[in-house]
Amino acid sequence: MKTLTFEDINSLEKRYRAQLINCVSGIKSMNLIGTQDGKGNKNLAIFSSVIHMGSNPPLVGFIQRPTTVQRDTYENIKSTSYYTINAVTEEIAMQAHQTSARYDIDEDEFEETSIEHEYLGGFHAPFVKHTPLKMGLKLEDIIPIKANNTKLIIGKIQQLHFDESLLLDDGHLQVDKSSIVGGVGLDTYLKTEKHGRYSYAKPDKTIKKL
Ligand SMILES: Cc1cc2nc3c(=O)[nH]c(=O)nc-3n(C[C@H](O)[C@H](O)[C@H](O)COP(=O)(O)O)c2cc1C
Repeated sequence: MKTLTFEDINSLEKRYRAQLINCVSGIKSMNLIGTQDGKGNKNLAIFSSVIHMGSNPPLVGFIQRPTTVQRDTYENIKSTSYYTINAVTEEIAMQAHQTSARYDIDEDEFEETSIEHEYLGGFHAPFVKHTPLKMGLKLEDIIPIKANNTKLIIGKIQQLHFDESLLLDDGHLQVDKSSIVGGVGLDTYLKTEKHGRYSYAKPDKTIKKL
């Protein structure tokens, strides 16, 4: 095993450190966040920091990098309160990656990357058309993180759209049965394969494979 201390990490070359530390949180979900400004300009960008925050109320969060430069997703969310989170699939992974490029505010990443959009249920923000899992959210809270000047953006799910064939009777969504990808770091996309599903853990009960 190789060991690095905080001091070792600090003295790493900037890009090498970013690559390494972006990998240490392991396999993450890869999502496209869709927004639209007040003039009708659409925006789409990839985010790997989307997390479950609670199911009652249904809250989802993501980490926004420092807003010291123009951040279209953030500005659109702040000004309209609405955004969509769309799972990245194998079919659109390369185009999804391209959305991380720094496009101008008036450039539409849906058009630039040929990712098709759709509007669902009268929702203000655009959804990615070809993905089996997507949701529409309303901004609930913005928590500034002093440690590194990032922000935790929290949204309440207003609409949930998913391929019904992935749904089990108990509410479990078999994301692994779709072409939704996971990711490592900022450039690697993974196909998923189920290892196992286990029963609810209790101190005095043996785990069962479901
Ligand atoms: C795989 C991947 C994951 C990313 N995850 C995040 C993230 O979680 N938070 C973030 O602020 N930026 C993230 N980015 C960077 C944004 O995609 C990038 O800053 C993009 O230009 C933002 O677009 P916008 O200005 O339209 O919001 C990620 C980039 C890549 C390639």
